[in-house]
Amino acid sequence: MIWRRASCRKEITFADGPRGNLMLGDALVQDLSEYYGQVQCVYLDPPYYTGDRFTFRMRVGRDGWSGKGRTLILPTYDDFSGDSKAVYLKFLRGAIILAHRLLTNEGSFFLHMDYRANAHARLICDDVFGEDNFVNEIVWSYQTGGRSKRYFSRKHDTIFLYGKSQDRYFDISQVPCRRKKDHTNHMKRNVDEQGRHYRTIRSGGRVYIYYDDEPSYPDDVWADVSQMQQKDPQRTGYATQKPQALLDRIIRCSTRKNDLVADFMCGSGTALVSAADNNRRFLGMDDCIHALSVTRKRLKDACVEVDSPLSSVTAMVDAAVLAGIGFYDVSLNAYTVSGDAFDNAVMEPAGKRIVSLDAVDQWYAGLLNNEEFQVYASGVRTKQSPDLPKTLKVPLLRGTVALMIIDVLGNRTLWAASSQV
Ligand SMILES: C[S@@+](CC[C@H](N)C(=O)[O-])C[C@H]1O[C@@H](n2cnc3c(N)ncnc32)[C@H](O)[C@@H]1O
Repeated sequence: MIWRRASCRKEITFADGPRGNLMLGDALVQDLSEYYGQVQCVYLDPPYYTGDRFTFRMRVGRDGWSGKGRTLILPTYDDFSGDSKAVYLKFLRGAIILAHRLLTNEGSFFLHMDYRANAHARLICDDVFGEDNFVNEIVWSYQTGGRSKRYFSRKHDTIFLYGKSQDRYFDISQVPCRRKKDHTNHMKRNVDEQGRHYRTIRSGGRVYIYYDDEPSYPDDVWADVSQMQQKDPQRTGYATQKPQALLDRIIRCSTRKNDLVADFMCGSGTALVSAADNNRRFLGMDDCIHALSVTRKRLKDACVEVDSPLSSVTAMVDAAVLAGIGFYDVSLNAYTVSGDAFDNAVMEPAGKRIVSLDAVDQWYAGLLNNEEFQVYASGVRTKQSPDLPKTLKVPLLRGTVALMIIDVLGNRTLWAASSQV
């Protein structure tokens, strides 16, 4: 069967659950005005002015996903290497202004920073949001990474919380946590008539009682959310990925079901995954194709609309369509991408060219209708399922059978069956 290279205005996945939009682009250039005043929570984890050039470790093929094979090291984003601080601060101000515009009147802004520019960020936020709308300086403390003997090891990030107004929505009861042991060590222990354990402390002439079985809530020092470990099953290979537990806490306390959450520098998409898992709508953007492909894959079961230009890379596909009862069976047999497409990638360990389906990281089957690619089934490689499903089912509905491939280099190509089957 012959497949022609196709184009589409947008890609939509039909699924139950909350909807979301994912876009490739520079957030400070793209027009996001249709979302102004619509977003209940903006989480922003921008570049921190580290001067580093970050990479993405893409596992390749069955062996790569089983942890025994090859990995491609691909460039992702350049964190202002060689740029002056003034250039960085102009960028940061632009991003903070955008966050402010996107928020509803009850909305919350969480800005994730580290020691390099957090002092500047606080002042810019005070300026854009108003000092009265400052709520918290959250210290996220973790134990991963190296230790220094020349200074106290830097083991925390800062997350600023600002409200769009004094009407900010916040529900701490949605984020219970374990009671910190050292907070209660100095208290008097007791057991009541029902056998419930509690602790008491006298302060300012009052006695405070804390039952051990009652939930506790986080204060502004979060030491109970660990950073991603080397072998963490969540790990995508995107260098600056944050743990989902951190985003779950942020999103659950600041939004309700079906509210819109935005992360317009989404990286591996942690905030969007958390939003979808918590039944919130989501809006995500990044200007790096690898960020988009990792995020797309993590959201494969969500009802997501993707707006990202297709790649013009030279490639070929071999696939087949079989019409059955109520379904088309779409099979992917082979995929070839031109050798020079690998010029910007470093292979570890160095070795042979990546051929055929090893070059495919994810594929989607569906129908093409009026320049809209409607996705009905997905096949993606993960640590849990390193093999790519070879056949996907598409319902026998109106439209041209099509398939989308996202390869290990992040190239996204759309292919339409040459004639109706
Ligand atoms: C620190 S990472 C975000 C990591 C993310 N929180 C996660 O859990 O994976 C910052 C991201 O901002 C993106 N970025 C930088 N400048 C951007 C811009 N102008 N528009 C859109 N994305 C941008 C980078 O490509 C990078 O993915």
